[in-house]
Amino acid sequence: MLNTYCPYTESFRLYTGSNCTNRFKPIKRLSGLLVILTLTAFGVGCTPSPPDHRAQVTAPVYKAGDSTKGEKLYEDLCSQCHTLRPGSNKKGPQLVGVYMAPSAQLKDYKYSEALNKAHWIWDAKTLDSYIADPKSVLADTRMLSDPVPNAQDRQDIIAYLSTLGRDPLPVTKDSK
Ligand code: HEC
Repeated sequence: MLNTYCPYTESFRLYTGSNCTNRFKPIKRLSGLLVILTLTAFGVGCTPSPPDHRAQVTAPVYKAGDSTKGEKLYEDLCSQCHTLRPGSNKKGPQLVGVYMAPSAQLKDYKYSEALNKAHWIWDAKTLDSYIADPKSVLADTRMLSDPVPNAQDRQDIIAYLSTLGRDPLPVTKDSK
């Protein structure tokens, strides 16, 4: 038997063929594959669901309340759980264009089963009763805000909400 050169171990030995194999190549290939798989998994996992938004509001602004006062009340009572930027939901869904929109409409927010099944339109009446005391009109809703007992405050908040979502397609890349 002749000693032959094995390029993988870079040595002359008595090789029969089966013991001169590239032990490293398959491992390299496998780890390359793993890197690709990991990157793909991360890529998929990190892809945000596309920001959803409600239709442009065309109904007249709600006049029974003062929207300037409503804005202040919104800041105090609602903004800790809601934003006014499409694609940016906090504890609650963003509220742009919610006035006169169907309830539980945003695909990028996970609503409670109860609100999903409510099929309301957020007009002044439904908004008023929901803001007044969410649990009393929808027992299993996840909106755990304090009741807003003052009727004029609620009208002001509704007036403010009705001014939002009037620009066409407000979704932008920096809407986080
Ligand atoms: C403690 C957090 C919290 C506060 C405070 C809060 N909300 Fe909410 N809101 C939520 C959550 C959570 C939901 C989703 C409810 C569900 O899925 O049942 C919600 C849902 C809503 C919806 C339904 C939106 C849709 O897409 O159907 C409206 C309208 C709303 N809130 C208005 C208000 C207003 C106005 C205020 C202030 C007066 C307010 N919320 C205060 C947490 C809050």
